[in-house]
Order: sequence, then structure tokens, then C-alpha cells
Amino acid sequence: MTAVPEKVGVIGGGRMGAGIAQVFATAGAEVVVVEGDAGAADAAAERVTTGLRRAAERGKLDTGPEEMRARVRVGTDPAELPAGTDLVVEAVPERADLKIQVLAAAERAVGGHTVLATNTSSLSVTELAAGLQDPGRFLGMHFFNPVPPSRLVEVVLPAESTEETRERVLGWVRGLDKTAVVVRDSPGFATSRLGVLLGLEAIRMLEEGVADAESIDNAMELGYRHPMGPLRSTDLVGLDVRLAIAEYLHGTLGERFAPPRLLRDKVARGELGRKSGRGFHDWD
Ligand SMILES: NC(=O)c1ccc[n+]([C@@H]2O[C@H](COP(=O)([O-])OP(=O)(O)OC[C@H]3O[C@@H](n4cnc5c(N)ncnc54)[C@H](O)[C@@H]3O)[C@@H](O)[C@H]2O)c1
Repeated sequence: MTAVPEKVGVIGGGRMGAGIAQVFATAGAEVVVVEGDAGAADAAAERVTTGLRRAAERGKLDTGPEEMRARVRVGTDPAELPAGTDLVVEAVPERADLKIQVLAAAERAVGGHTVLATNTSSLSVTELAAGLQDPGRFLGMHFFNPVPPSRLVEVVLPAESTEETRERVLGWVRGLDKTAVVVRDSPGFATSRLGVLLGLEAIRMLEEGVADAESIDNAMELGYRHPMGPLRSTDLVGLDVRLAIAEYLHGTLGERFAPPRLLRDKVARGELGRKSGRGFHDWD
């Protein structure tokens, strides 16, 4: 089945939520973005408008950005999610308590037909179902940043998620012209578990003086055709974000995810990667 949901809700219109709203609207869905307050809603609306304008400039839209933009409404209350919403994707900050709360509020606002998804990049999807009446309609849809050009959606299945839920979501991912990988709910899923491990080993190599950052990244970019070396990629994700995920995986999967001293020191110094101008490379 390849189709795009007709009505989509997105809770949290930040970096990821605005991108998720954009790709569903571009594929033909009516989208409602729910933000925390009026100021955040204005910022989210601006992000969606900017994203669509950039897509139009790159020739990625079939019709004008204004027409696509008219498909996206931004509000501040889950009650604004329309009846018959097919899919709600939660993309609020990476805090379990907040996610559990907004998912439960979204479930109360929509009908029994709606699939609920979380865009968490590291938390246990099973635990995020804690406040839901019907966990069978819930799973992880892990989009990547930036959402529009990214080809992957990692579909994360908790034990209670039903086959019908999975099949509907896989059809929608195809409808977005993206590719799904399906993984059982487990720490770090497939992407973070492998990506973070490679990044941590690269940091340990730097600590041991095996090579400098540029050489380590070039080794993987030129030798293994990775589009981006593990240290550059850590800089883009953010060293603080990587450290938080490594700590979580260290606790759940064991010693091989122990964060290296150098990573902790850089985060303590505010060297967070591209967003702060310096991480393992300089970005000024
Ligand atoms: N940034 C990435 O590279 C990336 C990649 C994959 C997944 N993720 C995950 O996506 C989620 C969002 O990340 P982001 O980078 O977009 O964060 P962000 O901080 O840019 O966006 C979060 C948005 O949620 C809004 N929000 C906060 N509380 C809210 C509430 N109660 N109701 C509605 N909206 C609320 C904020 O105003 C903000 O606009 C996180 O779980 C993150 O782990 C991020």
C-alpha cells in the first residue's frame, strides 16, 4: 500500500516538527502543527514557511510554496487536531515526561482510528506509551535531519504495536518517497547505536593520538565512502546531544558506549560542534 495520510498532526514544530509538517504537506496531506504557546507557534509557522520557500527555490515543489503553505495550520492546543486525523507525530524535546504527556493529550483529542508516533531519537518507545489507552496504535517514526532531503525513516516497533499500525505507517513512508527500516524497540535503535559507537571510537582514537580529526574523517569519507566522517558528523549532531545518547546507551548496553573523557571535557567547555562554532573541527 502506498498512500499519504489525508490528515496529519505534528506536536512540536521545531527543527524536526517543521520538516515533518513540510514533507507531509508537500505530499498532499492537510497538516496541523501543535505548539506549546503562541510565541512558539509563530516561530514554528515561520520555519514551515521558510522550509517551503527553500524547497521551491531548489525546484522541489510541484506547485507554489503558498499553495503548500495553505495546507499547514499552526495552533497551540491538541484539541485543534481535526476529527479523522490519520497520523499524529510527536516531535517535542527529548524528555520522556513531556513526550508521555503530549502523546496522551493527542490520543484524547483524536479518534480511535489515528496512529500515534514519536520521533524520539533515543528514548524507549515502549516507555513513551505509558500514558496511552491503546498502545497498539503507537510506534516510533524516527525521521532524520534535515527531514525533506533525508531518505530514511526508522520505524521502531514496541511489542504492543499492531501489524495494522505497522503496515499503515510503512505505506505512508513509501508515500513520502522515503525508505523505512523496521527495528524492534531497543536502545539506540539501529541508527544511533551504530552511528554513536563509530563516533565514540573515533574520539578515543583522537585521545590516543592515532591521527588528527581531519585524517580520521578523511579515512572514512575517502576510504569507506561515508558521506561524512564520524567526528564531523558528531559536530553536526551536537556534542552535547551525542554525550546524552552515549550516557543512555552506556547505562543500557554497557561499557562499549562509555563516553570518552575528551567528549565530556569539550561539552563542559561549551565546544558543542557546529552550533557553537567549534567541536572536533572549527565551523566559524
Ligand atoms: N535535531 C535532530 O537532529 C533530530 C533528529 C532525529 C530526531 N530528533 C528528535 O526529534 C525531537 C525534536 O527535536 P528538535 O531537534 O526538533 O527539537 P526542537 O527543540 O527544535 O523542537 C522542539 C519543539 O517542541 C516545542 N514544544 C515544547 N513543548 C511543547 C509542548 N508541550 N507542546 C507542543 N510543542 C512543544 C518547542 O517549542 C519546539 O518548537 C526530539 O525527540 C529529538 O530527539 C531530533
